[in-house]
Amino acid sequence: MGIGATTAGFPAVRRTPGTAFGIYVHVPFCATRCGYCDFNTYTAGELGGATPQGWLAAVRAELAMAACVVSDVTVDTVFVGGGTPSLLGGAGLASVLDAVRDNFVLGPDAEVTTEANPESTSAPFFEQIRRAGYTRVSLGMQSVAERVLAVLDRTHSPGRALQAAQEALAAGFEHLNIDLIYGTPGESDDDLRHSVDAALSAGVDHVSAYALVVEDGTALARRVSRGEIARPDDDVLAHRYELLDGWLSAAGLSWYEVSNWSRPGAECRHNLGYWNGGQWWGAGPGAHGFVGDTRWWNVKRPLAYAEQLGQGRAPVADFERLDDHDRHVEDVLLQIRLREGLPVGALSETEQRRATDAVTAGLLTHNGDRLVLTGRGRLLADAVVRDVLD
Ligand SMILES: C[S@@+](CC[C@H](N)C(=O)[O-])C[C@H]1O[C@@H](n2cnc3c(N)ncnc32)[C@H](O)[C@@H]1O
Ligand code: SF4
Repeated sequence: MGIGATTAGFPAVRRTPGTAFGIYVHVPFCATRCGYCDFNTYTAGELGGATPQGWLAAVRAELAMAACVVSDVTVDTVFVGGGTPSLLGGAGLASVLDAVRDNFVLGPDAEVTTEANPESTSAPFFEQIRRAGYTRVSLGMQSVAERVLAVLDRTHSPGRALQAAQEALAAGFEHLNIDLIYGTPGESDDDLRHSVDAALSAGVDHVSAYALVVEDGTALARRVSRGEIARPDDDVLAHRYELLDGWLSAAGLSWYEVSNWSRPGAECRHNLGYWNGGQWWGAGPGAHGFVGDTRWWNVKRPLAYAEQLGQGRAPVADFERLDDHDRHVEDVLLQIRLREGLPVGALSETEQRRATDAVTAGLLTHNGDRLVLTGRGRLLADAVVRDVLD
């Protein structure tokens, strides 16, 4: 059976009107796998016969099905993530956006983001995707310190990420993000300072900074367990976070989520949608979607994903319905990470008493009728949530 528009196999969903709606498209390809990364992504030799062309046809088919499941919706944000979307090239990314536009109506000021690895970008690439309608780019830079990039198995030179940032700005992108990883064993405070200075001097208006996580099953985890590399140290991670926050704030980028800083107005609207209880369709292998009270996720392997859609079947692996309690836990978990914080009224009486303890302990503070993490609270956000939840 050919690839056609059908809704067979998707859970029935009822969209909640009046909340932001986004589309996420997952690109499961990488040129090489970085030692720390456990994302659902595959190098050419791991694809088992799946191809970017087959993936694109399957994404088109999924989006056509999606438009039947969720009709009459205006899309506020599109986010193409991965993996390495820039491996598709300018024409490939333009086709992804065409596939979204062929099936959905984009709002007049829709935010359209793609992630990119500096290694697979160029000035013509940025010009082409800007012309195609992308408004925002998120570049994986991680660090400018060569020894840190080596521990992370990053193949680009420190200079390439900065050059890519300049090319993206010259192409006229409205917003530009750089991803940093901090706390890599062997990184010094000065290394981090240089990375932040470099990102700022490149003119970005948004920085995402993640503490290095040693994920099970990665090459990094194996090297750590063999004793070749030290495990990132919690105290060092906390210290580096404080340094980052100080440097970025002094440069006019303030935190708006625990791991994200921006100039005013440059916040990533797509990610804010996730944290603020928005709804989205997640297309592509392993992508998650959330509409109404339903969360579902696709099969992870690109070949199985394309084959299911090729047979006219939804590529869904499984789904769950969130009841009021699940929804509450999720709201607290996500909203507490935001600078806007969490409305006190969203908490039960018991939870409010526990939140008062966290205020006394200097982890939360009141801002009007909202509870916001303090600087110290941001270092312990997960523990604060565990303590507050009923
Ligand atoms: C999909 S990648 C970004 C685009 C592109 N694939 C790249 O790496 O340049 C998303 C980001 O997640 C972060 N990341 C992935 N695994 C991580 C880990 N184990 N610890 C900390 N950050 C991680 C990196 O900062 C990376 O830039
Ligand atoms: S960090 Fe980015 S480039 Fe590296 S393996 Fe993960 S998705 Fe691919």
